[in-house]
Amino acid sequence: MPSDIGGLYRLDRKKRRRKLLENTPLGDEDLALLDPVSAGEELLDGMIENVVGGFVLPIGVVTNLRVNGVDRLVPMATEEASVVAAASRGCKIAREAGGFEAVSTDPVMIGQIQIADLSDPRSVMEDLKGKKEELMGIANRVDPVLVRFGGGVKDIEFRRVVHPKGEYLVLHLMVDCRDAMGANAVNTMAEALAPVLEDLTGGRVVLRIISNLADRRLATARALFKKDLLGGQEVLDSILDAYHLAEVDPYRCATHNKGIMNGVSAVVRATGNDTRAVESGAHSFAARDGSYRPLTSYWKDEGGDLIGEITIPVPVGTVGGATRVHPAAIACLKMMGLSSARELGEVLAAVGLAQNLAALRALASEGIQRGHMRLHARNLALQAGAREDEVERLVEMMVGEKTVTASKAEELLRGIR
Ligand code: MEV
Repeated sequence: MPSDIGGLYRLDRKKRRRKLLENTPLGDEDLALLDPVSAGEELLDGMIENVVGGFVLPIGVVTNLRVNGVDRLVPMATEEASVVAAASRGCKIAREAGGFEAVSTDPVMIGQIQIADLSDPRSVMEDLKGKKEELMGIANRVDPVLVRFGGGVKDIEFRRVVHPKGEYLVLHLMVDCRDAMGANAVNTMAEALAPVLEDLTGGRVVLRIISNLADRRLATARALFKKDLLGGQEVLDSILDAYHLAEVDPYRCATHNKGIMNGVSAVVRATGNDTRAVESGAHSFAARDGSYRPLTSYWKDEGGDLIGEITIPVPVGTVGGATRVHPAAIACLKMMGLSSARELGEVLAAVGLAQNLAALRALASEGIQRGHMRLHARNLALQAGAREDEVERLVEMMVGEKTVTASKAEELLRGIR
């Protein structure tokens, strides 16, 4: 089903929803799940403690995405204007050269177990290495369902970590989480092993918890962006200049990566996944070699066009947690027609790259305020009392006159009527 639906933004919500019926696996009953109040008080009450209400964000649809030859319409839940439009623009430019190619690792999360008070951590480590299979067996018995689906602990890595106040032996359980994000499975396994390790080592287990530096669960996406579609040589060179600044300056790099996460987190949120897990993973991965670096990279190909690439940790699931509980998350996942969490990770990487490219392109040319202005104008038009059939005209007039204010909206509306 094609994702290049032109002019989605010009349609009213009803017509947009109809497009979803035509272009995604969603049916009428799924559309009902996207209703702003679909979650209902009872469900919300069960999700966290001391519930007193709900917080509704808009879900927008990113168009034009093609990953590994497959088109997908991608839902975003965000409070930030222009993110959906910018991602769609980035996807459109990539699409002209075939879209994104993406690959991902197995969905492996790391569970850390910290052992303190060992008199000889080195020899304890050697001893435990010999008991690896036994330890993995104990952990895997905790989650037979995950094991049945082909997941579970696949390996244990051992690290000695030295702090001025003491040395710790740290075990990393490498857990293949299949289609789950896996925090629950990993934490349960780590907790189950803790007393066994205390018995075996005579040490004291302190932490037994997942690591959010999910550097064994990565997705990489790459795309070609044609020079002409970017706005020509000058814009392309400025995009590279902007990227180069991010490579060497943490002040710029923070904003560069924030822009990437504008898109990634919005999709993560729409699918009921843990935005903080994905964000801490992305930023710690960006700093993995000791200096904070951009998550994307760019270079020119022989023809002078731009190639962009991104690699990010993707600790996300298509089962478990809120993904199968929150009605909007259920519909958003279905909208993309994914068959695995790995595919979701690959979509996230592609969206992050599209988002970053679109931001750099706007920054390298007209700036980002123009895009914001249209949406601002739309909000002012609605506030001034414009009807659906008047809004677009009013927006055009305000943007055309380069005056986007509440009083202008009122004045122009009086004029139209
Ligand atoms: C705004 O939320 C994100 C940008 O600042 C990203 C960037 O500067 O690359 C536009």
